[in-house]
Order: sequence, then structure tokens, then C-alpha cells
Amino acid sequence: MSARVKCIMFLFLLVVVRVQSSIFSRKTTVYVTNNVEGNLNLTIHCKSKDDDLGPVVLSPNQAYQFTFNRNLLGNTLFFCTFRWTGSCHWFDIYIQDRDVTHCESVPCRWIIKKSGPCRDLPDSHECFLWKPDTCV
Ligand SMILES: *[C@@H]1O[C@H](CO)[C@@H](O)[C@H](O)[C@H]1NC(C)=O
Repeated sequence: MSARVKCIMFLFLLVVVRVQSSIFSRKTTVYVTNNVEGNLNLTIHCKSKDDDLGPVVLSPNQAYQFTFNRNLLGNTLFFCTFRWTGSCHWFDIYIQDRDVTHCESVPCRWIIKKSGPCRDLPDSHECFLWKPDTCV
């Protein structure tokens, strides 16, 4: 085999390995930090269609993380309640369509404030509103 053919085969193999790892390595990590104003504990309870992660109490500035496999169909969804003294809100903390470009290779980082969750990007905060659904 000529060096040229070997080189082409090697590049081809590299591409195959890359494509395979992007198909099979579907792990996503979500970080949520309690930045609720007023030094309040925040209770987070997240679920997906298949998993119930259970309630977790975060003290002020404490972070919580969970890891899951993205769905091949592209429709992974994790929804959570966020409670602190006198308040309860819903938010979809991971919507694959919305979030996959932000956190395919790095964790999704969220900061929780009273007004809603903000995406914690290196150079910006994109803030979202709570869902209007009733939370008890
Ligand atoms: C927050 O939670 C901690 C430990 O769970 C508890 O000791 C503390 O009293 C709580 N603080 C408030 C303000 O509820």
C-alpha cells in the first residue's frame, strides 16, 4: 500500500471513530446553583418521563448536578419544581432541542434566582421565566 492510501485510510478511520463516539457518548450533565436572593434554602425536585431524581435541598450558593444520556430521538426532557419559603415554581431544566447546542460537550449550568433560572455561560447570563403552571 502506498503511503498516500495508508494516509487516506487512516483519516477515514478517524472519521468513523469520531462519528461513533458522538453517537454513543450521549452523556449530559446539568448543574444547578442556588442563587435565590435572601440566603434561602432551595428544594429542587427533577423528573423525566422515566426517572424521578427525588427532592434535594440546596443551601445558599450550593450546587446540585445530575447526569443522564440524551435520547437518540432528540426529545429528552427533565422538568423540576423549585421551592423556597412561600414559593413554588416549575421549569424545564433540560429540553434537548433548546439545550443540546449549549451543553453537548460541556455541562449545562443554571443559576436559580427568584425571578427564574439563568443559563450560566462564560460571558453572559440568559435568563428565563418560570413556567406558569401551578405548583403545590
Ligand atoms: C437550610 O437547611 C439547613 C440544612 O438542611 C438547615 O439547617 C437550615 O436551618 C435551613 N435554613 C433555612 C433558612 O431554612
